[in-house]
Amino acid sequence: MAKKVMEVKDLTISFKTNQGFVRAVRGINFDLFEGETLAIVGESGSGKSVSTRAIMGILAGNGVIDKGQILYEGEDLTTIGEEDFHKLRGKKLGMIFQDPMSSLNPIMKIGRQITEAMLLNGHHLKNMKKDLVHAERVAILNVKKQVKKIQKNYDAQKLEINKEISELKKDKETDNTAKISSLKEKLSTLKVNKNSEIKENLKQIKPLVKAYKAKSKEADLEVKTFWNNEKEKSNKIVEDLLLKLEGLNKETEQAKILDLKNQISDEKERLRRVKRVTKKEAFERAIRIVKEVGIDNPEKRLKQYPFQLSGGMRQRIVIAIALTADPEILICDEPTTALDVTIQAQILELINKIKKERSLTVIFITHDLGVVANIADRIAVMYAGKIVEYGTNEEVFYNPKHPYTWALLSSMPDLNSKERLVAIPGTPPDMLYPPKGDAFAYRSEFALEIDFVEEPPFFKISDTHYAASWLLHENAPKVDKPEAITNRINDFKKRIQQEAKK
Ligand SMILES: Nc1ncnc2c1ncn2[C@@H]1O[C@H](COP(=O)(O)OP(=O)(O)OP(=O)(O)O)[C@@H](O)[C@H]1O
Ligand SMILES: [Mg+2]
Repeated sequence: MAKKVMEVKDLTISFKTNQGFVRAVRGINFDLFEGETLAIVGESGSGKSVSTRAIMGILAGNGVIDKGQILYEGEDLTTIGEEDFHKLRGKKLGMIFQDPMSSLNPIMKIGRQITEAMLLNGHHLKNMKKDLVHAERVAILNVKKQVKKIQKNYDAQKLEINKEISELKKDKETDNTAKISSLKEKLSTLKVNKNSEIKENLKQIKPLVKAYKAKSKEADLEVKTFWNNEKEKSNKIVEDLLLKLEGLNKETEQAKILDLKNQISDEKERLRRVKRVTKKEAFERAIRIVKEVGIDNPEKRLKQYPFQLSGGMRQRIVIAIALTADPEILICDEPTTALDVTIQAQILELINKIKKERSLTVIFITHDLGVVANIADRIAVMYAGKIVEYGTNEEVFYNPKHPYTWALLSSMPDLNSKERLVAIPGTPPDMLYPPKGDAFAYRSEFALEIDFVEEPPFFKISDTHYAASWLLHENAPKVDKPEAITNRINDFKKRIQQEAKK
């Protein structure tokens, strides 16, 4: 079985707005396995982008992760700082978005946009030092985080208590003085406790800072020694080449002279590359990557501006930029939605190709199940901030169990006529007021009474297939997916298989 590369647990995200809290993601769980393509499918507003933006550390400023974990490489990404996220985005996680034009800078040449991040993140010696002191730095940050958490908890409690007190004060009918003073006392005890807890934590910081400084000195020395060694080695090589050069006859041995001169300049460039990614190196890599994403004549393209390229080509450039980080995980957020159907198919094919060649793990977001039929290994269906069904591609297409998945399948545009069988009735809920129970019940012809009261748990259909629908309860009436969907899926799969054979 493939290795688990990421684990999302009970992830809960809300946005603070003037109207209140938008409950965008409400406790989602999923695993990501090495080398798979996981599709996240759902209508507009279901929380697909927000979930993945949290993974990338790029939530909007008013967004808060209320609960949950994103476990990746032994760390919980919900607790790491921007500097660490920056590093992850530079080396491990790539993301491409729906609209290529908004991901590109319109007034910067393509070449510079591709090389910029490589150059920015390419200080090898600096990165080496950072890695060496990482553990010590994180230890300090953890204490600081703990302090913040204690303060945040206290602030929340204080808010609650003060609210209670002002309610009691408003109530003129009864004498609440005793209650009020007991609440005030409670608050002051909380404050004393909070302060002493914070003090305890801060005490730990001093020795940690000391350890950090010591380690930092050590690291400086290590990096310096490494660099000096490399420099010495390289200088020796250049000296030897220069000596050889001296003995040559300028008239008769021009070819040898040229060759030696090239070797010298190559060696000098090699040494520069030990220190950092050089412009030349970045440019060479940009050309390779641009070729990899299927663009001809890369030298010419790198000198152009985004508006000089077609939409499809721009999306290829956006993919190229994501690849410069050499990511392990590539998140594609509706990367083909803004493109017409033919180009869409080409981009899907490209994503599939680079996934295979680079053994990437892919999260593919779309509102259209049809798009992922060919590329997803597993599918998670999202509705109103929750995952309502997940399973292998086969399971979700052939044996869907949640009425929302049925609705999505039947709203899929037909491959031949481009017609939709039926649109999903109604509109997704306003996430300022997420519905109780099964959020889809309000739009579903299969809703049961309990759907409006209690949230359905996940029912197991197979080891890999789960759905959160009361219809799967043993006492529920036997309802199967509408026959029209069955026919449609069969047609659809037949077409897909034919296409795959082509
Ligand atoms: N910065 C924000 N402030 C307030 N609400 C937000 C913010 N960003 C997203 N939301 C809300 O969070 C919910 C989930 O949004 P999200 O962008 O994840 O949807 P989505 O599934 O990606 O949909 P789409 O297919 O339209 O891209 C929506 O209700 C959206 O309005
Ligand atoms: Mg989105």
